[in-house]
Amino acid sequence: MAEKTPRKFFEPLAAGAPAPYRELPVRLERMIHFVPPHVEKLRARAGELAREVDVVLGNLEDAVPLEAKEAARAGFIQMAQATDFGSTGLWTRINALNSPWVLDDIIQIVGTVGAKLDVIMLPKVEGPWDVHYLDQLLAQLEARHLIGKPIMIHAILETAEGVKNVDAIATASPRMHGMSLGPADLAASRAMKTTRVGGGHPEYKVLADVAGDAPRTAYQQDLWHYTVAKMVDACASAGIKPFYGPFGDFSDAAACEAQFRNAFLMGCAGAWTLHPSQIAIAKRVFSPDPQEVVFARRILEAMPNGAGAVMLEGKMQDDATWKQAKVMVDLARQVAAQDPDFAAKTGL
Ligand code: GLV
Ligand code: MG
Repeated sequence: MAEKTPRKFFEPLAAGAPAPYRELPVRLERMIHFVPPHVEKLRARAGELAREVDVVLGNLEDAVPLEAKEAARAGFIQMAQATDFGSTGLWTRINALNSPWVLDDIIQIVGTVGAKLDVIMLPKVEGPWDVHYLDQLLAQLEARHLIGKPIMIHAILETAEGVKNVDAIATASPRMHGMSLGPADLAASRAMKTTRVGGGHPEYKVLADVAGDAPRTAYQQDLWHYTVAKMVDACASAGIKPFYGPFGDFSDAAACEAQFRNAFLMGCAGAWTLHPSQIAIAKRVFSPDPQEVVFARRILEAMPNGAGAVMLEGKMQDDATWKQAKVMVDLARQVAAQDPDFAAKTGL
C-alpha cells in the first residue's frame, strides 16, 4: 500500500488546523476512568473525580442505553464546560464509525468543547482507514473552531481484523495517542468461548506431565498474553502508548489487580477503571514499586554515562539494565511530581 512521504505525514490535514504533535505530550495516564455522562449525579462529581484520577472519560458508546445516546452526548458537553479538570486528562469514547450517532458526537463535541478535549477514544477500529477518516474530520473541525492544539486519537483494539492490522493502526497518523485492548468485543469477534469482560478463564490451562498415574496439576494460562504482547510491540515501536481495557468483575479485586499487573509488567501505561474500587488498584499497579525504583536509581548512579558493566547486590548491570532502570525512574518521577508520599518513599 502506498504511504505518505515523511514530510506530508506531519502536515496538518486542513488549512488552519494545528500542526500534529511529533512527540506525545508527557502525561501520567495510569487509569482512564469511565463516566456515564447521561447520569446527572455522576456528572456532577466530575470535579471531585478529576482530583483522584489521571484521566476522566465520558463514555458515549457501549453500556449507554440506546435511548440515552443523545443525553450522554449533551451530558458530556455540559460536564466538560462546567468542570475544571486541572492537569487531569479529558477524553471521550465516541460511538463506532458505522453507528448513527457518531457524526453528531464528533461535530457537536469538537464544536463546543474541542479546546478542552485531549483525546477521542475510537471503538472497533479495524484498520488505518478508520483512523484516517477521524483524522481528516478532526482537522476540518479544529480549523473551523480555531482549536489551537490537536485532539489525539486512541484506538480500541477489539476486533480480529484490528488485531491483524495493529501495526498499521499504530502508525496511521501522528494524531495517534495509543490503544487499549477491548477484551469483551474482541472475544466476541474471535468467537472465543467466554462470557466475561477481561480476565482469565479457569479452563484455559495446561496439564503438567507426570510419571504413571500420579495426580496432574493444571496451570491456568493468560488468554490475553498474545494480544497484549502484540499491541505493546506495535505501540512501543510507533512511539505511542498501550493500555489494558476493562475488567468487568467488580467483585474480584484480586483478579483485576493481577490482570492490570500483567499489563503493567508487559509495558502498558494504564488500564480502564469502570468502578470506583478499581481506581486505587490501577494507581497502585501502574505506579512503579518504590523498592524497585530505589534499586533502579542505584543502577543509574552506579553507571553515570549508561555504559560498561557493574555488579550491584550480585546482579550484573550493563547498558540494557541501565535503560530499564531509566524507564522505571522516568515513570517514578512523573508519579512523584503528583504524589508526595511516593516522592518520599523513592527519594525523588
Ligand atoms: C471494550 O470496549 C471491550 O469491548 O472490551
Ligand atoms: Mg468494546
